[in-house]
Amino acid sequence: MPETLTITDNRTGKTYDVPIKEGTIKALDLRQIKIAEDDFGLMTYDPAFMNTASCRSSITYIDGDKGILEYRGYPIEQLAEKATYLEVAYLLLNGELPSKEQLANWVDTVTHHTILNENFRHLIDSFRYNAHPMGRFISSMAALGTFYPEAKNISDATTRQKQIERIVAKVITIAAFNYRSMVGMPYAYPDNDLSYPGNFLNMMYKMTEVKYTPNPVLEHALDVLFILHADHEQNCSTNAMRAVGSSEVDPYSAVAAAAAALFGPLHGGANEAVIKMLNEIGSMSAIPDFIKRVKSGEGTKLMGFGHRVYKNYDPRAKLIKKVAYDVFEVTGKNPLIDIAVELERIALEDEYFIKRKLYPNVDFYSGLIYQALRFPMEMFTVLFAIPRVSGWLAQWQEMLDDPDQKIARPRQIFTGAARRDYVAMDQR
Ligand code: ACO
Repeated sequence: MPETLTITDNRTGKTYDVPIKEGTIKALDLRQIKIAEDDFGLMTYDPAFMNTASCRSSITYIDGDKGILEYRGYPIEQLAEKATYLEVAYLLLNGELPSKEQLANWVDTVTHHTILNENFRHLIDSFRYNAHPMGRFISSMAALGTFYPEAKNISDATTRQKQIERIVAKVITIAAFNYRSMVGMPYAYPDNDLSYPGNFLNMMYKMTEVKYTPNPVLEHALDVLFILHADHEQNCSTNAMRAVGSSEVDPYSAVAAAAAALFGPLHGGANEAVIKMLNEIGSMSAIPDFIKRVKSGEGTKLMGFGHRVYKNYDPRAKLIKKVAYDVFEVTGKNPLIDIAVELERIALEDEYFIKRKLYPNVDFYSGLIYQALRFPMEMFTVLFAIPRVSGWLAQWQEMLDDPDQKIARPRQIFTGAARRDYVAMDQR
């Protein structure tokens, strides 16, 4: 079977054979299809990249129809059950699971990079008390890069690795310090005896005790949530990371851009929107009316439902739902869970949602856990961003090492006015 596509241009009657590789044709192969010598050549029009592969990647595999998610070939369910977040971050960044020694070194390195330069505190202090944690996070990531001017040497492998270690380590300190600044509490410094999620909880919640001891169930739950959020192939924020990184800017600036993309309510901001929605619904009896409003298309969406890629139950949502009940054993039940479960039940039986293949996504249950862990709602997207930095950085490295990649620069179909002459003010 020839691996080619034959295209006949009915404008000219000419026929072209275009190679098919990995189920894909190269958009640039269409450029030869012209109606005249000075014609630019055929382009594809694909707003929102609905059917365009922007890269080749060996990091994360998703089968949206079957509800499969794998990091470097390992099913997400196995990683969530058996691995730690830092082990998964190593896997994403390096391609293979670490040996015992490699993991010990990686954990030790990350642990020993969690402290921020003291000057950084002044920067955090200067935000207004009610500044949104994601605004703080985005700005903090860009600001962090100013402490490491060598980070611009992105082609040097050692320098690159150093920034990866710093970013993965310092995001928990940045997130926690910004929280303490918001609530007017003194900063709690990292404790090297604790695990990555345990240390984060320590910096968030340590009060006057000499040593903070995280509850092991909550520490584990947070670690699992970190694993589930670590990467998700070419989503909006990862695409931002790659696009901005393709200009060869330092990784802190690219992470800030990716975090900005994550902030949007259609992406990482959805977990916050889900809690707002559940609060607004307020009771089980109000669910049918709410569903009716969603279906009428009056601008209300069922937040935490639907996904560009998953046309089946998001495997992460399944795992998170289970973690939610583990957490509630310790914290007491979040009363909103009953509304969420009933909402899911009704939606999954409804023709509107069935027809459109709308299922719960990662954000549907995660906010309920974050709330039970006492994180303020505005911080939910930060909790998504913390582990996602490992995915962003893995994708960034892959992009830099890929000889096919260049600065990201899409084309456009120009729809504006044809050339015309400037009109003087008194003649308009
Ligand atoms: N509630 C109600 N209807 C929905 C929803 C929803 N949550 N999501 C999609 N639909 C409907 C659309 O209105 C559309 O209906 P139509 O064909 O009658 O016009 C149809 O389903 C297809 O949806 P699209 O918007 O075309 O799908 P797209 O792939 O562009 O959007 C998205 C995906 C943005 C995730 C969308 O489902 C959504 O807005 N969901 C709610 C927000 C959310 O939960 N975001 C988190 C995503 S996961 C993440 O980023 C981590």
